[in-house]
Amino acid sequence: MRDKLKRLKRRAWLLLSLSALCCLFSACSGGGQSPLSPAGSGAEGISRLWWLMFYVCSVVFVLVIAATLLAVFHARRKEERTAAELPATDTPLVKPPEEQERRMRAVVIGSLVLTVAILFVFLIESFLTGRAVTAPLTSEANALTIEVTGHQWWWEVRYVDADASKMFTTANEIHIPVGVPVLVKLKASDVIHSFWVPNLQGKKDLIPGKPAQVWLRADKAGVYRGQCAEFCGMQHTLMAFFVIAEPSEQFYAWRTAQQRTSNAPATATQQRGQQVFLTSPCIMCHTIRGTQAGAAIAPDLTHIASRNTIAAGTLTNRRDELGKWILDSQTVKPGNHMPPNNLSAEDLQALLDYLESLK
Ligand code: CUA
Repeated sequence: MRDKLKRLKRRAWLLLSLSALCCLFSACSGGGQSPLSPAGSGAEGISRLWWLMFYVCSVVFVLVIAATLLAVFHARRKEERTAAELPATDTPLVKPPEEQERRMRAVVIGSLVLTVAILFVFLIESFLTGRAVTAPLTSEANALTIEVTGHQWWWEVRYVDADASKMFTTANEIHIPVGVPVLVKLKASDVIHSFWVPNLQGKKDLIPGKPAQVWLRADKAGVYRGQCAEFCGMQHTLMAFFVIAEPSEQFYAWRTAQQRTSNAPATATQQRGQQVFLTSPCIMCHTIRGTQAGAAIAPDLTHIASRNTIAAGTLTNRRDELGKWILDSQTVKPGNHMPPNNLSAEDLQALLDYLESLK
C-alpha cells in the first residue's frame, strides 16, 4: 500500500511539473508576431482578456487537480483503515448518509455558482473588449486613411488623400506614424482573406463585395509582421505583410518620397533595364509611375527599392532574390500569377540595375 501511495505522489508531482512547464512556455510566447506583446490599442485589450482567461483557468485547473488528488488519497486511506485494524471504540469512518448527502449538495451547488459567475465575467469582458477593439479611435476625418486590398497572394496598399495628386499605391509594407489613429479600409479582389497584425490589432476578414474597416494605432515604434489569417489558396502562408510604425517626421519624409514619380534612369544600363521592363510582359501587370507602365494587376513598383521584402514577405529584397523571382517566381511561390520571364543574362542584370535604382 505504501508503494502505491508513493507511486501516486510521484504521478501528482509529474502532473504539477508539467503544468508549471506549460505556464512557463506560455509566458515565453511573446516576441515577434504575437498578440501577447501588444504595441497598440487593439492588441492591448485582447492581450488583457487573454491573460485574465489564462490566470482564471489556471487557478480552476489547479483546484480541479487538487480536488481529484484529495478524493483519491481519501478513498485510499478509507480502504486501508477498513481493511484491517478497526477498533470497536473508534469513531465511525463513514459519516451518516444524510450528512454526506448534505455536504455533497453544498459542494456541487457552490461549484456550479462559481462556474456560472466565472463564465459571466468572461462573457462580459469579451463583450467589452470586442466593443473597445472595434470602436473608432477618432473621427474619420482626422484619421490617416489607408486602403488595403487583399489579392492572391499579396497586399495592395493605397494611401488616400483629399488631394488626388498626393495619393499613391505600394505593396505589402504599410508605414504608419506612431501614436496616430489609422483607419484601414479593407477590400478583397478575389477570395476571402483576413488582415491580421497580432501586435497591433485583432483579425478582420476581407470578403469580396463587402468592404470592411479596422482601426490601428501603434504606441511603440517598430516593425510588426502581419499575416493573412484566412485560408485563401495555395500560397496562403506566404501572404505576409509588415506594418512599419515610425516617428512622425520619419513617416512624413517616407510619404513625401513615395508620392514622387519614379527616378529616371541615371546610367546606360539602367536605361537599358527600363527598356527591358517596358518591352517585356512586366508592363502588362505592373505600374512604374513616370513611365508608360500603368497596369494595376500586380504590385506597384515605382519605389520597389525602398521595400525590405518582395512577394509579400516571401523573399528579402536583395539583387539575387529579385533576379530569382523575375526569372521564375513559380519555383519560389508556385501558383502565383506572375509568369516566368525568359531574359538573357545581360537583360536581367540591366533590369535589376534599373529596379534597384527605384528608391
Ligand atoms: Cu490571403 Cu490567406
